[in-house]
Amino acid sequence: MKIKKWLASLGLIGLFAVSSVSAKTDPETDRKSFVDYFKNRHSGVEMSAYMNGAYALNQAAYDEWLSIEEFPPYELALGEGEDIWNTPFANGKTYQDCFDTTPEDGLRAKYPHWDDSRKQVMTLELALNECRSANGEKPFGWKKGKIASLSAYVAFQGRGHAIQVSIPNGDALAAYEMGKEFYYTKRGQLAMSCADCHVYNSGNKVRADMLSPALGHTTHFPVYRSKWGAMGTMHRRYGGCNEQVRARSFKAQGPEYRNLEYFMAYMNNGMETNGPGARK
Ligand code: HEC
Repeated sequence: MKIKKWLASLGLIGLFAVSSVSAKTDPETDRKSFVDYFKNRHSGVEMSAYMNGAYALNQAAYDEWLSIEEFPPYELALGEGEDIWNTPFANGKTYQDCFDTTPEDGLRAKYPHWDDSRKQVMTLELALNECRSANGEKPFGWKKGKIASLSAYVAFQGRGHAIQVSIPNGDALAAYEMGKEFYYTKRGQLAMSCADCHVYNSGNKVRADMLSPALGHTTHFPVYRSKWGAMGTMHRRYGGCNEQVRARSFKAQGPEYRNLEYFMAYMNNGMETNGPGARK
């Protein structure tokens, strides 16, 4: 099997006896050690650079990415997203009527958050599609196309706001713990966890790709990805990464990926959002 071979050649298989999921820990302690881990691993990389993914770790790739950003491939999506946001529903209401924050005031950075009345993590894409349903419109698909364009527009308008995920109570903490456990659980035929690639091997190469650090992973979604030739949401990316290790992917916006996003975004607390992004 090809993928197994390239991973084995990198020593990625069987190297780690990871048991990073300790019994109930304090999220803030988790976050600090997470950040410190990357500070030590990639000393010299500024905190603010982590929102640029793998490009933060390699000057040549960074320069190439900067030139791509001059004519960003997500521009079309931004235009489409703006139109969608500004077009009232058939009932005359608008997206803005569903939210008490405007995109410019950082609507993007308000997500993910814990909704205590529903006892679940809310994500931006879920809230946008629920806004449609609540106004008698059919929800968009979850991973690409219009939902990604709309999310991209909201992200773009609110660039520069800081991620501030809070964990208000025990139920929210349980969701965080589930997300964290997901992150460190080995899965698939290759028996690898998210952390095996994006924590313990960030900066190492697999095939032509440099593995991006987990720190900063939620800052810039959705992304235009050259490999997709299109935009995709964070949960689309999660699904792709699950499949890379020959694991089954979970449903976009299902509880597994929402909890995962909650954990990952908490790790990014204090970082600025700069979505949408452009990636290989
Ligand atoms: C076999 C290694 C591997 C595993 C395991 C893996 N990924 Fe990835 N992931 C990649 C590669 C390769 C890329 C593309 C290069 C990059 O940006 O890291 C990527 C990209 C990503 C990105 C986009 C980074 C960016 O800057 O936009 C996210 C987010 C991500 N992975 C999350 C996850 C999550 C969550 C898991 C666990 C469910 C996971 N990955 C498991 C290899 C892996």
